[in-house]
Amino acid sequence: MTPTSACACANVALAKYWGKRDERLNLPWTGSISVTLAGLETRVEMRAAAGGDDVIRFDGEPARPAEATRVSRFLDLVRLAARSRERAEVDVRSNFPVAAGLASSASTFAALALAAARAYGLVLNHAALSALARRGSGSAARSLQGGFVEWLPGTDPDGNDSFAVQLAGPEHWDLGIAVAITDEGQKKIGSREGMAIAVKQSPFFRAWLETHGADMEAIRRGIGARDLDLVGETAEHNCLKMHAASIAARPALLYWTPATLAVMHRVHALRDEGLPVYFTIDAGPQVKVLCRGADRAEVVEQLARVPGVLRVLPSAPGPGAEVSSPQ
Ligand code: PMV
Repeated sequence: MTPTSACACANVALAKYWGKRDERLNLPWTGSISVTLAGLETRVEMRAAAGGDDVIRFDGEPARPAEATRVSRFLDLVRLAARSRERAEVDVRSNFPVAAGLASSASTFAALALAAARAYGLVLNHAALSALARRGSGSAARSLQGGFVEWLPGTDPDGNDSFAVQLAGPEHWDLGIAVAITDEGQKKIGSREGMAIAVKQSPFFRAWLETHGADMEAIRRGIGARDLDLVGETAEHNCLKMHAASIAARPALLYWTPATLAVMHRVHALRDEGLPVYFTIDAGPQVKVLCRGADRAEVVEQLARVPGVLRVLPSAPGPGAEVSSPQ
């Protein structure tokens, strides 16, 4: 095995992936569009393991059994394709709160797919690498590329046509992003379980599916035209539909805390005052706010004052995943 290190950024979905048509292969019911988040990074370092088992660490600590199994199963896919039995020692480090609705699984499995393919000597084109990352976590398919990225749902039962493509690079649009952290704890219901409940138990899931295509189309158009109002208004609406469908499920999936709601209200108040700002929220309590690049510092400052906000991370459209030399 070639010792390898790779880095990938988190992403936030503007038109969300929420519901799988195939749970084993992580095949979505719909397409989704995201922006890659500069500065919110996960680095994966891999080398051959000394013993007969994979050794997985997150931020220097041994992974909990469920996490270790998830990473090992993912490595099994790479080993199968590479016809290798070699076990790996894997270090995963993120510079932002993990498993709290900040798409850490996206950056983790994008970096892991890139590092593992390289370490085990698999030569994959972009589509195949994205489809591989998808097997680790659906949203990871989108974190291999920078800027604005669309994940195509595909129609193949084997998932080979379900991968992400770049719509525009990070330099295309000076979009400001502010990530308001309201809770650093691990969420109770992860996105995998959450979306499975929403698919089966929400009376609104059908409406979510039926109206998603129009949002995809508007966001694609808005990104092309660098139209913040179109992208922001549509992303906010798409996010609220995802949460409405989830809240209406049995059991109910309520990812918001009082601080999440306080940020949502503050965003609306700022908008009423004339500042173009829009929010979106994934399967967790943090709020990502979109604004003009020039307004980002002001937005970060405003959000930091909202009661319950722990800190605000400034971000922007970020770069794609990269292999780097081990440190
Ligand atoms: O890929 P997962 O299992 O982490 O699910 C991601 C789900 C959302 O973040 C809520 C939406 C999305 O498209 O990223």
